[in-house]
Amino acid sequence: KRPAGAPDKALARPVTKVGVVGAGLMASQLALLFARRLNVPVVLTDLDQERLDKGVGYVHAEIDKLLGKGRVSADEASRLKGLVTGSLTKDAFADADFVIEAVFEEMGVKQKVFAEVEAVVSPECVLATNTSSLSVTEMASKLKHPERVVGFHFFNPVAVLPLLEIIRGERTDDAALATAFATGKALKKSCVLVKDAPAFVVNRILLRLQAAILTTVEEGTTIEVVERSTNPLGLPMSPFVLMGLVGPAIALHVGETLHAAFPDRFPVSEGLAKLVAAGKPGVYRPDFTLDPEAVALFEGG
Ligand code: 3HC
Repeated sequence: KRPAGAPDKALARPVTKVGVVGAGLMASQLALLFARRLNVPVVLTDLDQERLDKGVGYVHAEIDKLLGKGRVSADEASRLKGLVTGSLTKDAFADADFVIEAVFEEMGVKQKVFAEVEAVVSPECVLATNTSSLSVTEMASKLKHPERVVGFHFFNPVAVLPLLEIIRGERTDDAALATAFATGKALKKSCVLVKDAPAFVVNRILLRLQAAILTTVEEGTTIEVVERSTNPLGLPMSPFVLMGLVGPAIALHVGETLHAAFPDRFPVSEGLAKLVAAGKPGVYRPDFTLDPEAVALFEGG
């Protein structure tokens, strides 16, 4: 069954090679997913060799984990590793049909990246953005072919969570959207078409909860008490563990986008801004004990 609002699937174009801009954690998770599910070459790009090596290294380590769990055979593991490569230049995208960006969450950076990609790919190549909250229409607005831009928003951890928000920008055409849906389906994701609104659907809902939690802490309740108090809600993971999984910088960016759009409903969290400025990966350490310095950034007011 075609998802609500999805165009005729006959319009979808084949995807035989994928480009991923960025080699951070989200981009690397995407590279693995595309290689594994589409079985096509995937090229990662980033600004320097160190980041690139880290991204490709992450993909290889995840493939080894799949091999260890018996999810892929030894032959499949080595074939998958061969499919994912890194390149310092976007020229490697020249014959790609689908390029997805997962770079820094800032409109100017994303627009620049898309302009650079557009200079090397064919006009039919779909440009997808994994933005968490920014306008897909605005991101496409400076391009020669804005009709090929779609929002393609995944959730952490990408390999596990089934939902994929697909966003149609004002100028996105049916062929690009149909290609996005066909690709999402091939990735075995459950695709929903959502409006190009600040933070789309999931993050808008999730950030309302996060905003309430952060305000509660900033008003004097300890993180520990808030964490224990959310237990009865049956959330799959505690709110502050989730913040660490998503990354405080991303949580802050989404919060800022929503604050700009709906200031009354999404207050800015000073604690979160301080956590990001301090370069902390969250309030929990890797062994899931609370980091007192990080906690003090919230509880200290
Ligand atoms: N990366 C990759 N795989 C992971 C992982 C991670 N960080 N964490 C867990 N997994 C895998 C495990 O390896 C395991 O796989 P297996 O079945 O092959 O062994 C599987 O997930 C289940 O893990 P566990 O049994 O250890 O743990 P849980 O049952 O507790 O599930 C969870 C873990 C799926 C992460 C669950 O806690 C969860 O759903 N948490 C909420 C996540 C969430 O809300 N994400 C959305 C965030 S918003 C977002 O990403 C949008 C962005 O724009 C900000």
